[in-house]
Amino acid sequence: MKLAIIGGGRMGNALLRGLINSGWASVSDLVVVEMSEAQRDRLEGGYHGLNAVRQFSQGLCEDIVLAVKPQDAEVACYDIASKGVKRVLSVMAGVTTETIEKILGPDVVVVRSMPNIPALVGHCAAGIACGSKATPADLDWASQVLESVGKAVEVPEVLMDAVTGLSGSGPAYFFLVVEALAEAGVKVGLDRETATVLARQTFIGAARLLEETGESAEDLRIAVTSPAGTTAAGLAKLDERQVREAFVQAVEAATSRSIELGKEG
Ligand SMILES: NC(=O)c1ccc[n+]([C@@H]2O[C@H](COP(=O)([O-])OP(=O)(O)OC[C@H]3O[C@@H](n4cnc5c(N)ncnc54)[C@H](OP(=O)(O)O)[C@@H]3O)[C@@H](O)[C@H]2O)c1
Repeated sequence: MKLAIIGGGRMGNALLRGLINSGWASVSDLVVVEMSEAQRDRLEGGYHGLNAVRQFSQGLCEDIVLAVKPQDAEVACYDIASKGVKRVLSVMAGVTTETIEKILGPDVVVVRSMPNIPALVGHCAAGIACGSKATPADLDWASQVLESVGKAVEVPEVLMDAVTGLSGSGPAYFFLVVEALAEAGVKVGLDRETATVLARQTFIGAARLLEETGESAEDLRIAVTSPAGTTAAGLAKLDERQVREAFVQAVEAATSRSIELGKEG
């Protein structure tokens, strides 16, 4: 068995799909350990030949993805301890590599990551941090797993809260921008449906341009802003209302909240 995914919920399922679709693994290389019977049935129904089991058994697999909720982390770690596991990639928010290492003991390598919700459509942005025993080969392995559902960048573990504040919470910031643009369209006279379609498609189109041209956001912004034109007038108003500073404060607030939640956990 190439990989066991512990927790077959939203994130576990996204990784499962990504790993199969990217060709990193075939269905028979993977096993999902999932508490909920209904969820196991759904997974086995969705992936022909998939093995979904209730409990991790001795020697089931050496490489593990831990994708249970942070509050279930301790139980899930004790479930796999001393059962032949060699390497763990955790996607659990706020659970440190040190905590996992303490439970699993000195022979288990731990890598931690913080993906975000677009993993569900293969476009996550993930920060990834090595535990005390992880080698470059372990980082490479963890990156391959995560890159089946998007992009992964290495950061020191101490910056995981910053990753949470930026990309973890980031999709909601962009959703808010789309909502606000649609509202603005209504204010300047468009009907709500038209404004919503235009705002949404503008966001998707801008994202695709970033992706497909590989140019920086700044270069693209400059390229579409003619001096004294309509876009320049709109951007000047955003600057006047200090929108950049508002985003800085949003990321700072989300980062601080992540630190607080980590302490509470
Ligand atoms: N979803 C996201 O966008 C996202 C983004 C970044 C990070 N993450 C992280 O990913 C992790 C999973 O999130 P999620 O949204 O996928 O949660 P989820 O949908 O609740 O999935 C977790 C699954 O694990 C099962 N489970 C709990 N304890 C278990 C155990 N000991 N052994 C096996 N299965 C167990 C749960 O079953 P029951 O429901 O029966 O308890 C549930 O089906 C979390 O730690 C979260 O911080 C998620």
